[in-house]
Amino acid sequence: MKTLLVYYSRTGMTKKIAKMIQSKINCDIEEITDNNKYSGKLGFLKGGMNASMGRTSKINSITKNPSDYDLIIIGTPVWASNIATPIYTYLMKYNKEFKKIASFCTCMSNGYEKTLENISKLTGKKQISTMFLTSEDIGNPEEKIDIFINKIK
Ligand SMILES: Cc1cc2nc3c(=O)[nH]c(=O)nc-3n(C[C@H](O)[C@H](O)[C@H](O)COP(=O)(O)O)c2cc1C
Repeated sequence: MKTLLVYYSRTGMTKKIAKMIQSKINCDIEEITDNNKYSGKLGFLKGGMNASMGRTSKINSITKNPSDYDLIIIGTPVWASNIATPIYTYLMKYNKEFKKIASFCTCMSNGYEKTLENISKLTGKKQISTMFLTSEDIGNPEEKIDIFINKIK
């Protein structure tokens, strides 16, 4: 199955998991960024506000066409119990082009159910696999990743 993993990561957690998944399933990968750094306290507040209000932002141009892939894996940090703004924007722009979808999110401790649910709602698709990783899982994510990947294969 031709697979593209699309992720955003502000501080590297989601990126770490994305790279681990890529090394296990040999998929293409696309990092989404936008023109906001979301740094410092103000950045944190802005990110939380944008995510909870469902705002979009200006994201970088994509290098991989999602319609070329059988499966899109979405990776996002949880922001205010929701999809991080750059990934929300990507989903709003391109979800009509997805065939199959799976997703994962990273978070401190909560908000992951709503985040994963919102990805299903937004894409209008039942996901073939989902996964969340809290700060407790991040140090040892192998087992969860393997379960996530096994459902995709
Ligand atoms: C704006 C903002 C809002 C956040 N909201 C939540 C939240 O609702 N629940 C939670 O457990 N963690 C929350 N976090 C923490 C991140 O989800 C967590 O640190 C994540 O692993 C960061 O991923 P990254 O390093 O890929 O950016 C929030 C972080 C930011 C920046």
